[in-house]
Amino acid sequence: MAETGKNIDLAAELLLKGKLVAIPTETVYGLAANAINEKAVISIFEAKQRPFFDPLIIHLPDIESIAKYADLKDIRLQKLAKAFWPGPLTLLLPKKEIVPNLVTSGLNHVAVRIPKHTLTLELLKKINTPLAAPSANPFGYVSPTEPAHVNRQLGDKVAYILDGGPCAVGLESTIIGIEEDKVCIFRLGGLAIEDIEKIVGKVELQINHSSDPKAPGQLKSHYAPKKPLYIGNIEQLLAKNTIKKIAVICFGEENFQAKDHLIFNLSKNKDLQEAAINLFKYLRLADDSSADVVMCSELPEVGLGRAINDRLKRAAAH
Ligand code: TXA
Ligand code: MG
Repeated sequence: MAETGKNIDLAAELLLKGKLVAIPTETVYGLAANAINEKAVISIFEAKQRPFFDPLIIHLPDIESIAKYADLKDIRLQKLAKAFWPGPLTLLLPKKEIVPNLVTSGLNHVAVRIPKHTLTLELLKKINTPLAAPSANPFGYVSPTEPAHVNRQLGDKVAYILDGGPCAVGLESTIIGIEEDKVCIFRLGGLAIEDIEKIVGKVELQINHSSDPKAPGQLKSHYAPKKPLYIGNIEQLLAKNTIKKIAVICFGEENFQAKDHLIFNLSKNKDLQEAAINLFKYLRLADDSSADVVMCSELPEVGLGRAINDRLKRAAAH
């Protein structure tokens, strides 16, 4: 188990020594290392057992600090940065020499994000170097939204867990870049398309569902619990299954025919924001429960519902 606390000085000291520290963000907890220390970056891949072809996001405290590491020249991306940072947005920007190729898996763009969490913003200002941080979970598993999630799976791999409480958004950042001079979304996430389009107009979706994606990290199977997971209409799913004990993750109504199933309601009031906050926690609870299989409702394809459905489809894919 790793020491957990709110000591920013200690977190800074460890990071500058090349150690791994778990950091809170509004989306999910990150497994952070100094992005310009290659040895430290390698230890992220080792701790997560993440393939080196899957590049990392670098985290910075403010827009001014980006210029040293990447070009934020595109006017449309500048508008998005001003509108949504700090927040659940990641921009793919032309990288500068100083960013190790290891961080970008050899790509000439680097993913940049300014997270919205006071502890982490303070930490980033203090250390004055970008933090490379993927979600703090073993590769392919459900992302962590609480310090205890990190401790349970990676507690022996991190030097410290900076405790910022439960994550306020609960879904990873939305990843946006430019391709063929168009604004493209490469990963659905905590910032809804509707909000993005209010700033830059219509955007293209480049969301990959294959097992050999062009943009790494958009693998078909990801965010997956260990138990079999089925998504769809709960009544229909339950009707097919009479023998097994089931953990049901639902949204809104929960008056199913079922008697001794475990029920996890993402949001009784059908609030998509609340569902996003609960999603990964409930997937973990269902996975750790006595149920044999997990069944989950598909959510409405609007706002954060799209990103939630995207995660569920990947989680069910294996
Ligand atoms: O909300 C988040 O984005 C969280 C918090 C910790 O900031 N981080 C996160 O990191 O979700 P990770 O590594 O779990 O997912 C990052 C995704 C991966 O799918 C990766 O392939 C993609 O971003 N990515 C990173 N750099 C990229 C690049 N240069 N080009 C294309 N995709 C990139
Ligand atoms: Mg991840």
